[in-house]
Order: sequence, then C-alpha cells, then structure tokens
Amino acid sequence: MERTSRIPGFYKLTVEERLRIVAEFAGLSEEEVELLRRYAALDRDTANRMIENVIGTFQLPLGIAVNFLINGRDYMVPMVIEEPSVVAAASNAARMTREGGGVFAQSTESLMIGQIQLVGIKDPYAARLEVLRNREEILAIANEQDPVLVNLGGGAKDLEARVIETRLGPMLIVHLIVDVRDAMGANAVNTMAEAVAPRLASITGGRYRLRIISNLADKRLVRAWTRIPPEAVGGREVAEGIVEAWAFADADPYRAATHNKGIMNGVDAVVIATGNDWRAVEAGAHAYACRFGAYKPLSTWEIDEKGNLVGSLEMPLAVGIVGGATRTNPLARICLKILGVKTARELAEVIGAVGLVQNLAALRALAAEGIQAGHMSLHAKNIAIMAGAVGDEIDQVAEIMVREKCIRLDRAKEILEKLRRERERR
Ligand code: MEV
Repeated sequence: MERTSRIPGFYKLTVEERLRIVAEFAGLSEEEVELLRRYAALDRDTANRMIENVIGTFQLPLGIAVNFLINGRDYMVPMVIEEPSVVAAASNAARMTREGGGVFAQSTESLMIGQIQLVGIKDPYAARLEVLRNREEILAIANEQDPVLVNLGGGAKDLEARVIETRLGPMLIVHLIVDVRDAMGANAVNTMAEAVAPRLASITGGRYRLRIISNLADKRLVRAWTRIPPEAVGGREVAEGIVEAWAFADADPYRAATHNKGIMNGVDAVVIATGNDWRAVEAGAHAYACRFGAYKPLSTWEIDEKGNLVGSLEMPLAVGIVGGATRTNPLARICLKILGVKTARELAEVIGAVGLVQNLAALRALAAEGIQAGHMSLHAKNIAIMAGAVGDEIDQVAEIMVREKCIRLDRAKEILEKLRRERERR
C-alpha cells in the first residue's frame, strides 16, 4: 500500500480504525499499539468527543503541591507537569511564604475582550464616534446571544473603538468588553463578536473581517504578593540575591524570558490540571509582559524597610471553572474539587499565587545553591530507573550517584549490580 497521509474521511472512522491506519503508517509494534489503547480516567469515548481524529489519550504526571496559604486559606494545589522538581520547589517555597502569613491575591472582574476588525471605511475617525454613539444597541445585540450569562450578571458591558494605522491603511477596531463570570469565555465572546459585526459594518459603511477574542486579557488581571522574613529564604544575602535576579530580568529580555518561564512552570501546571486553555494563558502572559514595548518580568522582588523580602506579580489570567474541558475531562473536575475553588476568580488568584511562589523557588535556588542541586537528585532517580532499579533500589542508586557527582547510566548500572550482589551475599 502507498504510504500517504492523505486519508479522506479519517475523522469519520472509529478510534480503533484510525489507530490501525496510524500503526501501519508509522510501523508501530503491537506493544506500542497496546499502550495507545490504554485509557485511564479520561475514557476513549469522552476523549473522542473532546477533539477530532483521536487515537488515544496522552498522560502526564499529576502531583499535589502542599503548604499553600493563600488569602488565609489552605490549598492543596494539583499540578500537571512533566518537569521534575517543579512540584517540590513550589511546595518548598510555599512553606517559606507561610513565615510571612502566606500569599495574598486579588483579581479584577472576569472581563474579556472581543475584537471586531472593520476595513474599507473612508472616514474611520467619524465612524468610530458613530460606533460609540450606538453603544447601547450594540451591547443589546451582543447580550441577546447569551441570556444565561446575562442572568448570571455577566454579558457585554462596554464598547471601545480604536483607529489603528496598518500597512494597508487605517482600520477601525472595535472591542466588545464582556463579563464572562466563571467561564474562560472564548465561546461567549466569539459568538457575541460575530453577532454584532454586521451591525457595526452597516453603522460604519465598512466591511467586517476578524471577529475573535483577544488573548491579551488585560482587563482580567490577577495580582499576588507576599512579604517574607529573610531568614525564611536562607538569610539576607539570599534575599538580596533574589532582588538582584529580578533587577537582571527587568533589564534584560534574555533573562526576563527565563524568569517568566519559571513563573509559567507553576501557572501552566495548574491551568492544565484544571482543564483550562494554557495557550491562551501563555499568550496573554507574554503579551502583557511586553505591554510597554520591552519584554519585562511579570513579577517584582524588593526588600522593605524592615528587611523583609517582598514579591509581587501581576498578569492576565483567563481561566474558568465551567465549560470546556474543565467539565468534560473528569480529571479536571477532580482537580477543581481538590482545590475547592468556588469561582473562576478564586481559581485565578490561586494560580497567580502559585506563579509567584514558583518564581520565588527558582530565584531562591539560583541565588543560593544553584538550580542543578535539586534537579540532580530527581534526575538521578530517573537514571536509576532507566538502569533497571526498582523499589528501594531507586533511592539507593540515586543517592550514591549524587554523592559521587556522577549521574550516568553506566554508573547507575554498576551501582545497581553491586547492590544486588551484596544483597544476595547477605
Ligand atoms: C526551569 O524550568 C525554570 C528556571 O529556569 C526559572 C528561572 O531561571 O527563573 C529555573
């Protein structure tokens, strides 16, 4: 058979039929096919309804970060992530923040922006005013689309209009500001943007093109802060190192990218665990970090007059607790239950706090012992497993490799053989 990826009607096939075709295309062994056939809490039918062309599910570890005290409340934080050390680091730094009363967080209302692009307008500045003059009518058209949201107190609340200069001449961009309450909101906003576009075109005498949510959710912000005695992070020297690390990131986009990556380690892990759209959160975070024209860290670190280390973070966080995978993925539902959050805003506050704490963990390690010490012990455990260690052997082999500062597969195999020989002799 010809090897081609052109497969008409692939989407209409059953999961099993698709799997067979892929297996043949890629030369998968029976064992590999069996692995793909293994479903867990997210079962085949549910997965098959969530996206198209499903052939299996993809699993990642789910860990729980402990010690989080946020706004005076204790949280166990579910984190889905492939990277070793992140959950341990979050738990460790969360414990440090407790010395200063934990982390505090606050969020704005759940306001999202829907953009409508209008082109071909001869007098865009006058058209802009005409749009604003018809504000109530436009908002009413938008709100007709979602009576449920409106009943919950949400819905389209405001209208903004801007003329932007582009390579193709001026365009009129209308922003529909929608309170999406406990949803992430993309569906509601996109439906509303599509509904109002024809009326906007007739008001302005132009043509509408794009009608889509903006992921720069700068009206849906979370702010988190913490004030910790320097002893909690290892003393004044380490606290100063953390502030210097922040100043470095503030002055240098190469460092700021990594600084923010450390924040997103925590943020994304909870966003994924709760079934939320991490690409939307990522896009929003980095666009916000760049809002003044230069890429900046999303957090700040300072030392107050009493010598306390003070951290704060501000970023957009478009996450929901209703709709989408937050409900369809049973694991997301369980993670939300573990968190015990009652609103999307509370979820955003927890996630913002986790981002700040994750950042603290990274900067503290970088300013003190360096990042590799923590990474190495987990790395060593992975190497021990690769060498065939099981049960207690994993820790034993890893410990010896870390002590010897030699974490290599060949050395892991040697140590394992020696351990087993010694055990047999006993
Ligand atoms: C690694 O995943 C994240 C860090 O690089 C973050 C940072 O450098 O701040 C440790």
